[in-house]
Amino acid sequence: MTTARRFTSTSARGIDTQCLPYRLFQKAKRLGVWDPRDIDFSQDVEDWKSLTEDQRIETLRSLAQFQAGEEAVTLDLLPLIHTIAREGRLEEEMFLTTFLFEEAKHTEFFRLFLDAVGETGDLTAFHTPHYRRIFYEILPEAMQRLLVDPSAPAQARASTVYNMYVEGVLAESGYFIFRNGLGRLGKMPGLLRGVQYIARDESRHIGYGTYLLQRLISQDPSLFDLVRATMDELTRYPLNEDLPPREFNAFGVPVTLLQDYAASRVQNRLEVLARALTRSPDEAIAVTEADLGIEEA
Ligand SMILES: [Fe+2]
Ligand SMILES: [Fe+2]
Repeated sequence: MTTARRFTSTSARGIDTQCLPYRLFQKAKRLGVWDPRDIDFSQDVEDWKSLTEDQRIETLRSLAQFQAGEEAVTLDLLPLIHTIAREGRLEEEMFLTTFLFEEAKHTEFFRLFLDAVGETGDLTAFHTPHYRRIFYEILPEAMQRLLVDPSAPAQARASTVYNMYVEGVLAESGYFIFRNGLGRLGKMPGLLRGVQYIARDESRHIGYGTYLLQRLISQDPSLFDLVRATMDELTRYPLNEDLPPREFNAFGVPVTLLQDYAASRVQNRLEVLARALTRSPDEAIAVTEADLGIEEA
């Protein structure tokens, strides 16, 4: 029986070592191999007891949202990897193997931290209706749709929800809150170290999503409207909608600063993607790490 199968790595083309996904794969092999089990939480255990009740509950709320969020992105990524593999995009899939591995480690990291500080109870009460809308419904639906509909619009929606919003807006805003709260207090060094490593991994994930979306938009500019509409839909569900209005969070950080940061992330993602509207497909994928904000160290 004959087959239409073609191999890339034995073809005259070989592996494209210059393309961004391959470069990200090289970075991930160097930077994505930190082990959550190497992080020392002994000072964090002491610091956890010294937080005020409000600070502890607020941090626990963020952790409960990060913990399930990392589990969600671990469980929900496979349909995208499957789609890319079916298109024979070898270098992209090579990078995606590190992507999934890193999400599994992020899930492990937050659970290790919660166990270390003795927070072993059920945390799902922190999953507010807006959080549930995004993580229990919109994200898994957008990703699982790829199993039956691997079209460019379905890929663009999946990557917008997963890479641009969940990673690029929600997770980045979460790191910002950790850095401006616990970071300024000089507490929880183990948690902050892990968050620093995770943020560096995430910059590669978001960078890949931006590459993928720019590739798709440059081939079909109408997809930019779909991306923008999806971002608009998601911003209708700001997290922590159950909290009473307040000027400062439990760490004394102005709430408007945190809201402005999240809004700036949305704006920034759209501005970067809009560049693909005026580029040819070849130009759109010839992006640099600096263009995409990928952290080096
Ligand atoms: Fe992650
Ligand atoms: Fe990620």
